Amino acid sequence: MATTRELQADVDTGTIAFSVNGRSVVVSSSPSQRLSRVLRDELNLTGTKVGCDAGDCGACTVLLDGEPVCACLVAVGQVAGNEITTVEGLQQSPTGARLQQSFLTHGAAQCGACTPGMLVAATALLDKNHAPNESEVMDAIGGVLCRCTGYRKIINAVLDAQSTAAPEVSPESGNAVGQRLIRLDGKKKVEGSEIFGADETPAGALAVRAIRSPHHRARFQFGDLDSFVHDHPGIHAILTAKDVPGRDCYGVIPRFADQPVFAHNEARHRGEAVAAVVGDPAIIEALDPASFPVVWEELPALKEIDAALAPGAPRIHTNREENVLVRGRVVRGDVDRALAEADVTAEGEYETGFVEHAYIEPEAGFARRIGDHIEIQACTQSPYMDRSDIATILGIPPENVRIIPTAVGGGFGAKLDLSVQPFLALAAWHLAKPVRMVYSRIESIISTTKRHPARMRLRAGCSRDGKLLALDFTADFNTGAYSSWGPTVAARVPVHASGPYYVPHYRALTRAVHTNLVPAGAFRGFGVPQAAIAQEQLYDDLADRVGMDRLEFRILNALDDDTPTVTGQVMGEGVGIRACFEALRPKWQAARRQTAEFNSKTTGPLRRGVGMAGMWYGCGNTSLPNPSTVRIGLKRDGRIALHQGAVDIGQGSNTIVTQICADALGAPIDRFDLISGDTALTPDCGKTSASRQTFVTGKAAHMAGTQLRNAVLALVKGCACASIQFEDSRVAVQEKGEIRTLALGDMPLDNHGYVITAEATFDPPTSSLDHDGQGSPYALFGFGAHMAEIEVDTELGTVRVLKVTAAHDVGRAINPTLIEGQIEGGVAQGLGMALMEEFFPGRGENLHDYLIPSAGDIPPVESILIEDPSPIGPFGAKGIGEQAVIPTAPAILNALHDAVGIRLRKIPATPDRVRAAILAAQAKTKIKTGDRRG
Ligand code: FES
Ligand code: FES
Repeated sequence: MATTRELQADVDTGTIAFSVNGRSVVVSSSPSQRLSRVLRDELNLTGTKVGCDAGDCGACTVLLDGEPVCACLVAVGQVAGNEITTVEGLQQSPTGARLQQSFLTHGAAQCGACTPGMLVAATALLDKNHAPNESEVMDAIGGVLCRCTGYRKIINAVLDAQSTAAPEVSPESGNAVGQRLIRLDGKKKVEGSEIFGADETPAGALAVRAIRSPHHRARFQFGDLDSFVHDHPGIHAILTAKDVPGRDCYGVIPRFADQPVFAHNEARHRGEAVAAVVGDPAIIEALDPASFPVVWEELPALKEIDAALAPGAPRIHTNREENVLVRGRVVRGDVDRALAEADVTAEGEYETGFVEHAYIEPEAGFARRIGDHIEIQACTQSPYMDRSDIATILGIPPENVRIIPTAVGGGFGAKLDLSVQPFLALAAWHLAKPVRMVYSRIESIISTTKRHPARMRLRAGCSRDGKLLALDFTADFNTGAYSSWGPTVAARVPVHASGPYYVPHYRALTRAVHTNLVPAGAFRGFGVPQAAIAQEQLYDDLADRVGMDRLEFRILNALDDDTPTVTGQVMGEGVGIRACFEALRPKWQAARRQTAEFNSKTTGPLRRGVGMAGMWYGCGNTSLPNPSTVRIGLKRDGRIALHQGAVDIGQGSNTIVTQICADALGAPIDRFDLISGDTALTPDCGKTSASRQTFVTGKAAHMAGTQLRNAVLALVKGCACASIQFEDSRVAVQEKGEIRTLALGDMPLDNHGYVITAEATFDPPTSSLDHDGQGSPYALFGFGAHMAEIEVDTELGTVRVLKVTAAHDVGRAINPTLIEGQIEGGVAQGLGMALMEEFFPGRGENLHDYLIPSAGDIPPVESILIEDPSPIGPFGAKGIGEQAVIPTAPAILNALHDAVGIRLRKIPATPDRVRAAILAAQAKTKIKTGDRRG
């Protein structure tokens, strides 16, 4: 009881005593302080994460006398005299330790932001129930959200935790690729020692808080800022646009850069920063933004695409006519004639909404000024891009900016754009003191980028025997107030909107349109998931019209090695889409049979359906350079330093890139020391986006590994076929029974401090696209197909996904466990996109109202890995990150049509929309049949 707890606090001394992980602690916090805050800030137990501070995400779950609670909702005064267990204490219990190991072997931790909460919640279950079933596990972890894994590996890790742990994979030299190696950064994630953006605070750091527009569009005027600072002891400075010493304009694509750090006179979207207050942490935390001296004048805002395009609409950026940021275009053949001559045509119009990334870790970091240099440690997907923008903003050379990425608690594209970094940089620069900034969940949601809402119209035609002839596709994307990745979406979608099929006559035209809403940016797929929703549903309609099986229609039209894509590119090798569809054929046929049988027997409101969708996705930038450079160094002690700058946001690049490099070099994995993503220590490996790290950075790592191997062989005059053994302080080279050694201890060190350094750069070969979008925009594509089996409650309008079977051509599965993790996580995000996720700026800006799938929403996922090697990828590998999300939503929506015969024009298929569409379809049937009853 609360009163008892309060009595156990020592009222005289103002302290609260309790036990944490078996250790007695006494804190002097206010009894009403959140337990999560005390654990993190006072006891330095930062394994407990804070994702929302509102009881919605479960990241802060700890055990209170053995029961799981959200530490953000428990006042520390309530735990006086009690025992708290955090993730850091789990190793002390056999259950906790086994769970941690099971999470590692199952690949149940990706970014790791939810992992502490998951482990703690699962420990509470297993302590009471040694052999839970799947639904008991789902219940136990149901309050902890994960945005990366799709939960299946977590569920399996909990189910298997009590069984004997599978032996860890420990591959021999040259045998790492293809192994289910435990992720190299996994231990820190399950122990809670991983450092995320909010997990470190330099001594004496001031706090930064942004003042943001409450309106979608508003003019504003500041009051007396100097007096405000003067009247508020503990506030050290207020920063506004006039405090930007360099160019107050940044953006992820320099040619389209248009975003100021602080709005100038007019805020273009709700959540845009107009000022930042810097001060003592307690003062900043207590600051009421409503007391800040600014007067807002709300202006009419453009929120919809049509309003923004309307003649006479105010321009959001004066230099962008009609509020169009950019147009995309791919044209091939004569689409109008082909459609006119087609035996069968189908058309449709589809709309999708904003989707919030909802990673569990809100943006956070700190900065400090060192002379004329600035250092920023923060969560980011793109350290070198951050470096360049911060240098521009501060007006200093890029070399004077150091970006140190922390672990990233999920990014999915949004952490490619700057968030806390410019505020931190400016505050540290002007005050010459360390500063820290941590976004609240609401701040994260209102100010960071989203998936583009899309409005798509399309028409396709095929011959009587099902051969696709033409597709005419147009799409407008609501890109919000600033460009962010709008140009990329507008350029990438026309290349992909055909799907992975041969379409001889094609026209795809896109526009990214500015509105006064939060900027839309990169979100796993850059617009391709939206396009696939429209195109894959339309192809089902075509198949139905020609009376073909929907899978066979796709197989008939699937791209081959020698068929040109809609940009005229012929891949020559490695086009594995047909193999993906064919792998699904027996499962499709069985699922169709079972579904028909269920529907023929059922008498209640439930109906089942099966849906299929295909996917392709070009890895890397569209027709633009995107090189990665990897450096490796052989040390005197025989260890190998791998400098790879690809930021691992949970997808596993730390592990994958090392596996590739190890095999290219011929060294065992445990010889490697990994140096990741620090602009002062690693060469530029580009951004973690566009499914490029396995391919591009992996290829650079392969080249660097090969180069080092050749350098060693050259020194001992060995031939290429010799085997190399890396040992302590020496390398032994064996060739035809003869062993030659290289004593490393005496060798001179080079500029990098190594006895031998190898550095390699790989930039995927692409060509620019001509006026009609013809050319080779990507060096390789990943391919895949998903089959969804669903059950619809026709009375409630609810859709339950029963199973997803996912076949992906990954070229070469470098680490099957990590690939499955990407697929399962992609399925979960696709399911959310299809059925529940839609963000409305100004409404539901939290994880309570904005729903993402929880453990109970996710069906079993069967992954089938196809290996049709790319001639250019490292060991044949292709990317998988974005690919995994694309076909899920269209497969579910096709299954919905299969089950109840409806096509929703507006996605997601929420119960109200599904129910309304079912009623409308029923009414139409009754009118058609003249049935007026009921
Ligand atoms: S931080 Fe406590 S539930 Fe999200
Ligand atoms: S691993 Fe669960 S949120 Fe990233």
